[in-house]
Order: sequence, then structure tokens, then C-alpha cells
Amino acid sequence: MGVQIIKTGKKVPYKKITNFDLEKILNTTDEWIKDRTGVISRFISTNETTTSLSIEACQDLLKENDVNLSEIGLIICATMTPDTIIPTVSANIKKALKIDHCITFDINVACSGFLYALSVAESMMKNLSIKKGIVVGVDLNSQLVDWKDRGTAIVFGDGAGSVLLSYDINDTSGIVSTFLDNIDDTENSLILKNISYKTPFNNLNNEFEFFKLEMFGPKVMKFAINAINTSISSVINLSKVSLNEIKYIVPHQANQRIIDAAAKNLKISKEKFYINIDNYANTSAGSIPIALDELNKNNLLKKGDYIILVGFGGGLSFGAILLKW
Ligand code: COA
Repeated sequence: MGVQIIKTGKKVPYKKITNFDLEKILNTTDEWIKDRTGVISRFISTNETTTSLSIEACQDLLKENDVNLSEIGLIICATMTPDTIIPTVSANIKKALKIDHCITFDINVACSGFLYALSVAESMMKNLSIKKGIVVGVDLNSQLVDWKDRGTAIVFGDGAGSVLLSYDINDTSGIVSTFLDNIDDTENSLILKNISYKTPFNNLNNEFEFFKLEMFGPKVMKFAINAINTSISSVINLSKVSLNEIKYIVPHQANQRIIDAAAKNLKISKEKFYINIDNYANTSAGSIPIALDELNKNNLLKKGDYIILVGFGGGLSFGAILLKW
């Protein structure tokens, strides 16, 4: 062990969009969205960017002014919606926080991004003896979805979550076990093609082509339920901790029905799952750290509690991290 989450933060856009607001632009109802997904509202950016939300989520982490910024040697930002590709969002964060020397990079593992970034951060902090690091999970899904597609637009939202990590070789708390995996998306159930530009050498007819997120919901749902089961069982098997000892499970907030089905399959009480999908919908890489920040700020975690962070997403990627708080 040795790499521990010592602070959590978040930032979501100012504008809150309810299901009733969506009734005005899509052929849908509040009742349908609530029943089939658990979502009641979501935050959608108007003038916020991935960078601005990330910076504010990090300022939330550091607001007590009790962290020596020169100790922060690593910032990883998990996102599939960077507003600037160069510089990376993590480099933008470093600049805004006025940190002098620091490793910064972004990763994209869709909705599993935060878990992957946390695991990479743990390895790098141990290998390079970095005392403090920041991991941000952030996505502006409102930029990706087709706002005419009622099957996808209703389940997504925008937001950023952040954690401050500390590495102390003698610390007996922190990350206990990690499981990460990927299975082929053979049925193209979650696809987002990148923008392509016409060049003098390719056959593109238009100056550029851009695409929106394509999702086949029922297929993703089936994958997601299995992914949660496999990931939770794996981190438990990789540790000496039993499922009964887990205080909270913080799942990726994609659909209330996915979480309910996973809880039933694993025979875990639904109360152990921390759920805030009603308020935020699916914020992709932001989802787990936003939920973790709520859990933490609501004083629901005590030192020594075991928790599991579990997620899944495009790729098809999935995984879990078991932590001793
Ligand atoms: N409002 C009203 N009706 C809708 C609707 C909406 N927003 N979206 C779909 N429908 C309709 C469909 O057209 C279909 O109608 P039909 O029976 O007349 O053909 C019916 O509702 C059922 O559609 P289906 O797609 O089977 O619904 P579902 O219960 O699977 O719910 C999702 C759709 C997208 C909410 C659900 O599949 C889901 O959440 N999947 C997982 C997605 C996910 O987790 N993605 C992120 C991964 S990180």
C-alpha cells in the first residue's frame, strides 16, 4: 500500500437541466427517463470548458491552503473531451495552479478513465518517489451526444471530479488491490469516431467530417452488469478483504438499473452502493470522483473503512480499485 487519497474535489457546470427541460427538445418524458435510468437532472455546460471545470475541481481540492504545491509531482487528467489537445488539459491545470515542475499528461479510457488514471498514478508515484499527485476525471459529454437522439442524450451530463494523492511508503492505508481489463466491442455498442480533415492526399469530400456518440443501450447494459460483477469479485479475490467488510461501493453512475442488477447478482445490499445518478446523470470520467467527493464531504467515510471504486465504459473497458480509507 502507500498511495492514499487524502482530499477530494469536484466542479460541475452552473446550468442544471431537468428531464422536463428535455421533454421540450426530445420525444421523451420525465417518467420514462426516471424509470429507465434513475436520472432526474444533469449539469450541462454553457460557457464552462473541460479545462475550466478541471481547474476549479483542483482548486476545490486545495482550498484549505494546507498543501505544499512544490510536493505535487504528477497531474493526470482522464478525459475523452479535452478542449485543447495541445497543451493537454493536465498541463493547463498545472499552469493555473502555478506548480513549477510536474509530470502532466491526459489519458482517455472513456468512462473507465478515472480508475485507469488512479492506477497509473499509484505506479508512477511509487516508482518515481513522488510525494503528492492529482488525478482528475472530467468530461463534457454534452459535446459528444447527438441532441436529437433520445436514446443517448438523456443519460449523459458534464462534470469534473478530482483527488489529491499522497505517497508514504509506511502508510498502511490506500490502494489495496486493482483490477483493470478490456473486452472487444465486437458489436460496436459504443462508438465515437474522431473528426477527420480533408488533406491534399486523402479522399475526403468535405473540409472535415465530425461524428456523434453512437450507443446501443441494451448491449452496453448487459456488458456493464457483467463488468461490475467481474471487477468487484476480482479486487476482493486479489485482497485479504471480504465483501462483508466493504463499507461503500462507488460505482460509475451510468444507469440505476445497472447498479441494481449488479447488486442483486453479487448479493450485496443496494445501500452499500453510493448513488447520485439522479442529480448528475453519467459524467463519464467525472462520475466516480464526483460521487467519491460527495461521500467524503458528507462525512460518510471514516479512517480505515474499505471502499471499492468500480467502473466500465467504451472500449469496452472496465475495472475496480479497492481502497482502505
Ligand atoms: N424516451 C422515451 N422512449 C425511449 C427513449 C426515451 N428517452 N429512449 C428509448 N426509448 C424507447 C425506444 O425507442 C424503445 O421503443 P420501442 O419499444 O417502441 O422500440 C423503448 O423505449 C425501449 O428502448 P431500449 O433502448 O430497449 O430501452 P432501455 O430500457 O434499454 O433503456 C437506455 C435505454 C439507453 C437508458 C439503457 O439501455 C441504458 O442505460 N444502457 C446503458 C447505457 C450506458 O450505460 N452507457 C454508458 C456506458 S459508460
